[in-house]
Amino acid sequence: AEDGYDLWLRYRLLAPEQAKFYKNRATELIAGSSTPTQSVTRGELLRGLQGLLGRDVPLSDSVTRDNAIIVGTPRSSALIAQLHLDTQHLGHDGYVIRNVVVDGHAATAIVAQEDMGALYGAFHFLRLLETGQAIDHLDLHETPRVKLRVLNHWDYLNGQVERGYAGASIWDWWKLPDWRAPRYTDYARANASIGINGTVLDNVNAGATILTSTYLQKVAALADVFRPYGIRVYLSIRFSSPIEIGGLKTADPLDPQVQAWWQAKADEIYKLIPDFGGFLVKANSEGQPGPEDYQRSHADGANMLANALAPHGGIVMWRAFVYSASNPEDRAKQAYDEFKPLDGRFRANVLVQVKNGPVDFQPREPFHPLFGAMPKTPLMTEFEITKEYLGFATHLVYLGPLFEEVLSADTMAHGKGSMVAKVIDGSLDGHALTGMAGVANIGTDRDWCGSDFNQANWYVFGRLAWNPSLSSRAIAEEWVRMTFSNDQAFVKPVVEMMMGSREAAVDYMTPLGLLHLMGPGHHYGPAPWDASESSADWRPVYYHRANRQGIGFDRSRSGSDAVDQYAAPLAAQFNDLKQTPEQYLLYFHHIGWDYRMRSGHTLWYELVAHYTQGVDDVKRMRQTWLGLHGYIDEQRYEQTAAFLTIQEKEAQWWRDASIGYFQSISGLPLPPAYASPP
Ligand code: GCU
Repeated sequence: AEDGYDLWLRYRLLAPEQAKFYKNRATELIAGSSTPTQSVTRGELLRGLQGLLGRDVPLSDSVTRDNAIIVGTPRSSALIAQLHLDTQHLGHDGYVIRNVVVDGHAATAIVAQEDMGALYGAFHFLRLLETGQAIDHLDLHETPRVKLRVLNHWDYLNGQVERGYAGASIWDWWKLPDWRAPRYTDYARANASIGINGTVLDNVNAGATILTSTYLQKVAALADVFRPYGIRVYLSIRFSSPIEIGGLKTADPLDPQVQAWWQAKADEIYKLIPDFGGFLVKANSEGQPGPEDYQRSHADGANMLANALAPHGGIVMWRAFVYSASNPEDRAKQAYDEFKPLDGRFRANVLVQVKNGPVDFQPREPFHPLFGAMPKTPLMTEFEITKEYLGFATHLVYLGPLFEEVLSADTMAHGKGSMVAKVIDGSLDGHALTGMAGVANIGTDRDWCGSDFNQANWYVFGRLAWNPSLSSRAIAEEWVRMTFSNDQAFVKPVVEMMMGSREAAVDYMTPLGLLHLMGPGHHYGPAPWDASESSADWRPVYYHRANRQGIGFDRSRSGSDAVDQYAAPLAAQFNDLKQTPEQYLLYFHHIGWDYRMRSGHTLWYELVAHYTQGVDDVKRMRQTWLGLHGYIDEQRYEQTAAFLTIQEKEAQWWRDASIGYFQSISGLPLPPAYASPP
């Protein structure tokens, strides 16, 4: 039975004509095995080709016939060296896949400068086969645009995953370091196949225990498993660790004893894990300790850790998600207010990690105003792959369009064309240290992610981290082909369904720029009426501000003036009600229920229409899926069908609850078009 464990690396036998075609073009494999990375590259190709073609492809040391596959670097392979390809520019991770002639025989060469590039190239080659691509005239050049492509696991050491909907943490701390579960290797394979090269093992709400020697041994064991796949391990650290496990009285970053403690800790880590990546830090946010506890700045805190890691080549990813009672007027402004003044004050090995939007991973938010606003600091973007605010495990929401919308947003920081993607890949302000982080949706469920379609969100994150300009639609198609089927009659409707799914969720949850209307705490289901949370800015009513007259959060110059955190042309645009894109309308403006939208309808009408549209879209998604019975295995088919039924029911719940509540505030009747029951 298909349980989703193999993710997109299924390597099931291709359709007969396809398998035959590729068989003739993969007659033997020439791949070294003198390093761990070479071995896993060779192993993956053997495994993949065997599965896809249904027969073992023989290994060889030389080219003995036409259509061999040759993999390696000029240093590792004399055959590759004799091709005289320029590999210098490929760097550590890049590769070329090209049809060549070697010793008088046609061959396909996967060529890199370093072993890692060859592994990435091998995965790419297998993807071509898995997705049914032509491989006769290959001349592919790939280098990643972003250097650090990192998963953030929000895993506690007790096995719980914060905002995880796919079972417990896959890190079995009790059995580590001596038991290295095979799952760790499969995790590394999956990540390497999409270019992910770093993983933060523990939650940003970190305890100090992870830095004790006992746990560092366990971390080292995982690092050993991941190393051949080019994946570095990072840790979230608790800023007050010197007090909690170091016996110091303070964690003040300017205190010499504190600095010495972190230096010694870094030395200890690197003795165990020579290629340790570095630290991720959540400080002075949601109750976490941090430098501000000692009247020091975020830069003081980050630089102190950066100093400890620098001699070893490590980096600090310092989060800009700061969220405290200090900005009750408008929570959305806090990160910018605190971090913008620190631009230029961070050490060279510090990146500031910024959530994609200013509030918190909502179905839709405008891009974060820090992008483009800190030219002297490398900024990472942080996406949430796990669907904390998007229906947890069951709702089918493909996040590719959300990620793409953010990456392609124009910050206007240096005029037109200053896309978030260019901030992230360093090209806008000339940064070599670049990164993209995704909060993982991985757990102990057999399918890793809580549903088959959630795997696509892990996949698209990795692909976009490699190249932030890829289209989310193209990535969806790749993923569907690898995960399910190459049958066009299946691929097309499923890709359509995925591409529309995020907008559907926006419509049935929080249309027109509304956000954070989920039940407080758990964040599942509608609760726009909720005013119970202790802190004002946790309450849904804080965000929508609906009253008898109208709805929306006034962030214009007559309100909180969050608009002026954006570059001047955007600030002017967002400040002007008429020019604000309607998808952000209620994020930037508080407007009357009878306000005329571009459609000519009133806001109230349009709000109801969007909620209804969301439900209709999910109904259509379900119909689409029902029409696809028989194209894939029963097990995965049935689960998706059941989950879509849940989603349809809950989209209706969202619509009815939201409209019912807003109606109780506005006092308006349902627009006639929506008044009669369907
Ligand atoms: C959200 C989420 C928290 C998480 C926080 C963060 O608020 O609900 O669980 O800890 O983001 O990103 O730090």
